[in-house]
Amino acid sequence: MKIIVTGGAGFIGGNFVHYMLKKYNNYKIICLDKLTYAGNLATLESVMSNDNFKFVQGDIADRSFIYNLFQEEKPDIIVNFAAESHVDRSIEDPEIFLKTNILGTGVLLDACKKYGIKRYHQVSTDEVYGDLPLDRTDLFFTEETPIHTSSPYSASKASADLLVQSYYRTFKVPVTISRCSNNYGPYHFPEKLIPLIIANALNDKNLPVYGKGENVRDWLYVQDHCIGIDKIIHNGKIGEVYNIGGHNEKTNLEVVKTILKELGKSEDLIKYVTDRPGHDMRYAIDPTKIKNELNWEPETSFNEGIKKTIKWYLDNTSWWENIINGEYKDYYKKMYENN
Ligand code: NAD
Ligand code: TYD
Repeated sequence: MKIIVTGGAGFIGGNFVHYMLKKYNNYKIICLDKLTYAGNLATLESVMSNDNFKFVQGDIADRSFIYNLFQEEKPDIIVNFAAESHVDRSIEDPEIFLKTNILGTGVLLDACKKYGIKRYHQVSTDEVYGDLPLDRTDLFFTEETPIHTSSPYSASKASADLLVQSYYRTFKVPVTISRCSNNYGPYHFPEKLIPLIIANALNDKNLPVYGKGENVRDWLYVQDHCIGIDKIIHNGKIGEVYNIGGHNEKTNLEVVKTILKELGKSEDLIKYVTDRPGHDMRYAIDPTKIKNELNWEPETSFNEGIKKTIKWYLDNTSWWENIINGEYKDYYKKMYENN
């Protein structure tokens, strides 16, 4: 089996590459990544010399490059993680989100249609469902929940999902889609909540909490997401959407306080800052379908996962210090300087 993993130098794609190479010693994994600010070859360092692995730098929206790659490699499966993934950046500058997340997905689908593949899997997000009210804890996102997006990021991901479904219906491209809740774990870029809080707390810097910190996210340890995608690409039903999430709802403040407690740092570091425009209140996944059809359940609880994650950041300081001391410094200054 030959799999092209796009966006494999990023957070979840990188974890997926490691997971698949470890699990299947007869699969060839090709990581295709543009290496944007979020792509990091240090994440793939330990597999670069693995005979079953190959890294290719390129843009999923570059049609001739993608067609050449498909022609040369003749992949069986495509797992598309490549995306612009940060909501705050999509509010600052939406255009690249449209280019990569929508047009890039379109190019990959055209390549699948032209060259033929066994499976195209689109890694999507629960953010396509919009948000749920804080006072309705009985409500969850199912695969039937209508698409109702809030940010340019989620709108671009929803557009891509619709395109994927149209290539199944119209051209019979064998697709599946997964919509996962918020991930956390190793190799997570420190612009996102959990790694940002860990890095800032370790450096005794302020911890920016948007609004009142009452927004709820449904956290999933990244390896559980990888296990879910592995099950879907092998046994998921063509044309179907699968939600992935593990009933691990926490307010942002709960997450921040848990990290501070683990690190033995003071809650005085917390700083309430201006809220994100259009900030989604609550995400919560109903994973019944993937549980019943594919026997998937999360293996790592939040308590265990957050401990493992903190330990990883403590053991791998150079991985994230190189990021926060590089060009990311300018983004951080621009994003948080007025607070
Ligand atoms: P990330 O930002 O850490 O990584 C994205 C990767 O894609 C980077 O390596 C980047 O270089 C690469 N990339 C960006 N544009 C590209 C292009 N045009 N061509 C090729 N490569 C390109 O993102 P992530 O958090 O790992 O998310 C991966 C996928 O999972 C995304 O599609 C995202 O929407 C989805 N998702 C993320 C979460 C989450 O909590 N992080 C939850 C659900 C779904
Ligand atoms: P984030 O990690 O950006 O993921 P998403 O917006 O895709 O859910 O943010 C998670 C939550 O944390 C979200 O409610 C916004 C909040 N947040 C902060 O309070 N402060 C921050 O500095 C960041 C980056 C996020």
